[in-house]
Amino acid sequence: MPLPARFSRVFTGLFHAVLTLLLIASLSGLQAQDVDQALYDAGEKVFKGNCASCHKPDANMTGPALKGARERWDGKGDIYAWIRNSQEYLKTGNEYANKLFEEWNKSVMTPMALSDEEIDAVLYYADNYAPPAPKGGGDVAQAPTGPTDAGSLWPWMLVLILLFVVVALSLTGVKKSLANAVQEAEGREPLPDRTFVQSVQEWAWNNKGLATVIGLAVTVWVVLALWNFAWTIGVYGGDEVAHYRPEQPIAFNHTLHAGSAGDGNLAINCQYCHSGAEKSKHAGIPSANVCMNCHQAVNQGRTEAGTADIQKIYAAVGWDPETMKYTGEPEPIRWVKVHNLPDHVYFPHDAHVAVAKLECQECHGPIDKEMTVAEQWAPLTMGWCIECHGDKAVKLAGTDNGYYEEMHRRLIENEKLGHRELKKWLEDEKVTVKELGGWECAKCHY
Ligand code: HEC
Ligand code: HEC
Ligand code: HEC
Ligand code: HEC
Ligand code: HEC
Ligand code: HEC
Repeated sequence: MPLPARFSRVFTGLFHAVLTLLLIASLSGLQAQDVDQALYDAGEKVFKGNCASCHKPDANMTGPALKGARERWDGKGDIYAWIRNSQEYLKTGNEYANKLFEEWNKSVMTPMALSDEEIDAVLYYADNYAPPAPKGGGDVAQAPTGPTDAGSLWPWMLVLILLFVVVALSLTGVKKSLANAVQEAEGREPLPDRTFVQSVQEWAWNNKGLATVIGLAVTVWVVLALWNFAWTIGVYGGDEVAHYRPEQPIAFNHTLHAGSAGDGNLAINCQYCHSGAEKSKHAGIPSANVCMNCHQAVNQGRTEAGTADIQKIYAAVGWDPETMKYTGEPEPIRWVKVHNLPDHVYFPHDAHVAVAKLECQECHGPIDKEMTVAEQWAPLTMGWCIECHGDKAVKLAGTDNGYYEEMHRRLIENEKLGHRELKKWLEDEKVTVKELGGWECAKCHY
């Protein structure tokens, strides 16, 4: 029969054209956000730490908008030298720099000891700066973009799947009416009606190649989406969003208790209260008895509210400050957990604090300097863990770190394997956590 054959060829052609178009469209969609996320993030960090007090990436402030600065300096001067010490650089008599200085009312930039890489990163950040997405409601805040953005893949995949269903449906519909016409012409009964699932099954059976490709594509996409999810979902932190900072039953002030004595604070060591950090998986929250070591005597705060809160410690341990006696009716304080990793993740404090010798602040931010209320400072995504593990050098030798000294010794002694490995690892002049297995799924997942 020539007619149905031609029809079906036209349809298959159309179908392929649509698929190709969609593929091209989704690929170009992906390309549009081709930003080196690691470099961008590194730049953002430098920017926030050193430049944000005077510059904005995309608007003038105390200093000019940094976007496009590298281009403006191209061929006119040494932007690296300028950023490190603009006052010194002015003395070279560079024309552009001196003109700039005049234009900006001779405001002075603070000298900064930054490496070329850091300057590259910060300029990259400024050039590629994208304003943060608007805030999402509630505590579970919006995820900043990860290395690839699952969000932008969704619409394309949905469109693709929908189109596929429509085309498949119409194809089977057309095929069926054509077949029925043929049946009728040949004087036979029309074909029985089938359900949608049956039609899909039949279609897949008849088009095994295409069905396999589509099945594979969907599987790959699901895996990718899950991966992206792991990188970004569950984020509370990030500067775009309000850091998770639940209200506590007692307004415990970290800055006052742990901040530096020079600023009039008490400078209590973190581990005085979070003694688990060095010895176990959990840092732990101190019991009210720990507070009582001091507060049995210190019953006045700096503010009225503070004094009232100290009374809550007494209630918690069942202490009557009038009679100076325990009443025997404690009422434990229900602190609200700030950090919440999912149950399938294993995070050991001791490995990071005692073995790796990281500062608490690397992961908890300036809690002793700026946080009168404890907050989640790091994003706690898988991407965050992985990024540090991929970058952080572990000191193998020359420290008092027995664990690594031992490992180093064994690597060197094992001429065949260890030595070669060590050499490979040391190509970038450091051994990262990743190279010691810090990217293995089982290290972090139960
Ligand atoms: C204390 C304020 C201050 C800080 C901090 C600061 N800048 Fe500036 N910056 C200025 C001012 C003001 C100018 C304008 C020139 C002048 O008056 O010296 C400027 C100019 C510049 C320029 C030239 C822009 C152009 O249009 O050519 C660059 C590039 C620059 N700053 C980079 C940085 C970077 C990168 C950092 C952080 C690492 C930084 N600045 C930190 C105040 C500051
Ligand atoms: C005097 C005792 C004390 C000291 C010293 C102290 N903390 Fe705390 N910390 C607490 C208490 C009580 C809480 C629970 C209440 C809250 O979240 O504010 C807490 C909560 C925290 C949390 C949030 C825990 C969660 O729920 O996820 C972190 C992180 C933290 N502390 C880190 C530090 C670091 C880092 C230092 C040192 C710079 C430090 N703490 C010093 C008593 C202390
Ligand atoms: C490598 C990053 C990192 C370092 C370094 C680190 N922490 Fe944590 N901390 C975390 C993570 C991640 C959690 C969330 C753990 C969870 O939910 O199971 C956490 C949770 C906590 C909590 C909540 C209670 C608990 O045990 O889960 C406290 C308190 C705390 N950290 C204090 C500290 C102190 C004090 C130090 C320094 C002595 C420190 N941390 C060093 C990453 C770190
Ligand atoms: C090492 C001693 C010490 C420990 C331990 C300690 N505090 Fe304090 N805390 C103080 C002192 C001292 C002050 C008063 C500071 C002042 O008046 O300058 C204070 C003040 C306070 C205030 C009043 C703050 C204000 O703004 O007025 C509260 C609330 C408080 N502490 C809660 C706690 C809790 C809860 C714990 C246990 C988790 C605790 N403290 C552990 C020494 C301590
Ligand atoms: C700031 C850097 C940093 C961050 C962030 C970080 N880690 Fe680590 N992590 C390290 C270093 C350094 C080591 C090496 C210490 C060691 O070998 O025991 C390590 C080791 C580990 C180990 C291996 C411990 C062992 O006994 O072998 C686990 C598990 C781990 N990290 C889990 C996590 C998880 C989960 C997160 C995120 C929630 C995370 N880490 C975030 C730096 C980091
Ligand atoms: C350095 C620690 C670390 C390593 C290594 C690691 N993960 Fe994760 N993973 C995490 C953390 C932390 C989370 C929780 C992220 C969150 O809640 O946003 C997570 C979440 C996930 C999730 C998402 C589940 C959910 O709750 O959304 C999947 C899937 C996952 N990981 C798979 C893997 C696989 C597969 C590997 C090995 C290739 C791996 N992880 C290696 C730390 C790690």
